[in-house]
Amino acid sequence: MLQTARKLAHEFGLQAVPPGVGATLRLLAAAGQARAVVEIGTGTGVSGVWLLRGMREDGILTTIDVENEYQRIARRIFLEAGFPPSRTRIITGRAYDVLPRLADGAYDLVFVDAEATEYPTCVDAALRLLRSGGVLAMHGALARGRIGDPAARDVDTVTVREVVKAIRDSDEWVPALLPTGDGLLVAVRR
Ligand SMILES: C[S@@+](CC[C@H](N)C(=O)[O-])C[C@H]1O[C@@H](n2cnc3c(N)ncnc32)[C@H](O)[C@@H]1O
Repeated sequence: MLQTARKLAHEFGLQAVPPGVGATLRLLAAAGQARAVVEIGTGTGVSGVWLLRGMREDGILTTIDVENEYQRIARRIFLEAGFPPSRTRIITGRAYDVLPRLADGAYDLVFVDAEATEYPTCVDAALRLLRSGGVLAMHGALARGRIGDPAARDVDTVTVREVVKAIRDSDEWVPALLPTGDGLLVAVRR
């Protein structure tokens, strides 16, 4: 089933999270006994299934994507993976528009896996949405290997570099950069 979701992602030209990132997401959700999780970047549902597998049995995954077509597939994948519709809240829209509608301090985990240019918005929102002790996980923190290359000045790399630095320098986060997938920046909200 994850294989099907991954194959469909590939057909759409999407980068679903690799198993190392998926297992880390499952671990984070389980360690925090997550009941309420926000995911930005549903895709075809690969990371969503990993998150749901780590969450409490009564937990709800709120997952956001601009593409309704991907989410239709994800909805089917979640069902096939054994998660009824009551376990997921699938919202179509841009992170920028949807995140302000979610409740403050109500979430245990926020996973960001979307457009790099929207990462600053997502991280600001995560600070507001997470309870104290909640965890932010942001995929793509290595910017496809360009993060440490000072000559790399494209907008995505510069944005990711600035976001990572801001989290590292902030008193509000306890961060670690995990070298799995395209870099998973995890940070606990103090
Ligand atoms: C890398 S894919 C997500 C893969 C998914 N997390 C998985 O592992 O199966 C990125 C997704 O983010 C969505 N996306 C890009 N920019 C977005 C935005 N500003 N708001 C919401 N979704 C966005 C894309 O439509 C795409 O489905």
